Amino acid sequence: MRILVTGGAGFIGSHVVDAYLAAGHEVAVVDNLSLVGGGRREHVPPQAHLYELDIRGEALGEVFAAFRPQVVNHHAAQASVKISMDDPTLDAQVNVLGLINVLRHCSQSQVQHCIYISSAATYGTPQDLPLDERSPQNPESAYGITKLAGEFYTRVWHDSFGLDYTILRYANVYGPRQDPMGEAGVVAIFTHRMLVGEPVRIDWDGEQRKDYVYVGDIARANVLALEREKNQVYCLGSGQPTSVNELYERLTEIVGVRVPITRAPKRPGDVRLHYFNPAKAREMLGWQAEMGLERGLEETVAYFGQVVQTTRT
Ligand SMILES: NC(=O)c1ccc[n+]([C@@H]2O[C@H](COP(=O)([O-])OP(=O)(O)OC[C@H]3O[C@@H](n4cnc5c(N)ncnc54)[C@H](O)[C@@H]3O)[C@@H](O)[C@H]2O)c1
Repeated sequence: MRILVTGGAGFIGSHVVDAYLAAGHEVAVVDNLSLVGGGRREHVPPQAHLYELDIRGEALGEVFAAFRPQVVNHHAAQASVKISMDDPTLDAQVNVLGLINVLRHCSQSQVQHCIYISSAATYGTPQDLPLDERSPQNPESAYGITKLAGEFYTRVWHDSFGLDYTILRYANVYGPRQDPMGEAGVVAIFTHRMLVGEPVRIDWDGEQRKDYVYVGDIARANVLALEREKNQVYCLGSGQPTSVNELYERLTEIVGVRVPITRAPKRPGDVRLHYFNPAKAREMLGWQAEMGLERGLEETVAYFGQVVQTTRT
């Protein structure tokens, strides 16, 4: 299949590109290598053509005409909750207007299937746990709102223009290539700081627990989504909550360095406990998280260890 991955130079999108290439698909990437976020040219393998442009621009149409994708996998986004609250206009421009531009080109060309990436941030504070596809969504950040709006646009494009969709709602994704300098992505931030011997900041009391899922597992779900039943929503997570304090302890053991902790208050909008029930993904997508937390953290530490070594030499 010819698959266009938007945001394919980013943390998660680049792993999806690798997985599609490994499965024998032809892949192209649209990414503007945004200054904020994880987009890096070196994340895109040479077998995938990188169109360096903005999903909001008219030039996107030229990519659709030249590459003629059959599937569009939409990972490009303003992906930071903090930035979404500091600059909600930017967040809406990229996550809503950018998506509309992508969908418009999908329905005007021969695209059969759009895979839209959503987030646990669409739920806000949960009423009941674990969260599943039918749990109420009450976003508590501008980012959560725009990600949820994207789900509605994707469904309406199916109902109005016949474009098949799959919506993948991710829990907290971690692993190699995550931006360690960002505001979120606690595993990447802690790992990098421990490797360079700098203190880590723990907000609240560190007992807030989230569902951490390894990026390789997420990439595999994107491959399965090509073949399995369309026009479905899937919650993708490990199903296991882990606290920030536990991440600190486990990473300290793997890295072998105990760095000091600085304390900070609870971040606005942070929730105490959040985790998915991935049963629907198991039954209908044939997917479940296979990477255990310990090994996933080891892989992440090994990756960042190499990055730190390369930048030192
Ligand atoms: N990281 C997580 O835990 C997580 C959880 C839930 C959902 N998601 C979603 O997964 C997707 C990927 O997130 P990520 O963590 O890999 O972030 P990322 O910042 O590494 O990736 C986003 C990519 O989109 C690109 N991009 C941003 N604005 C663009 C624009 N206007 N035009 C073209 N490209 C643009 C960036 O350059 C980057 O490569 C996003 O849609 C995000 O909302 C991520």
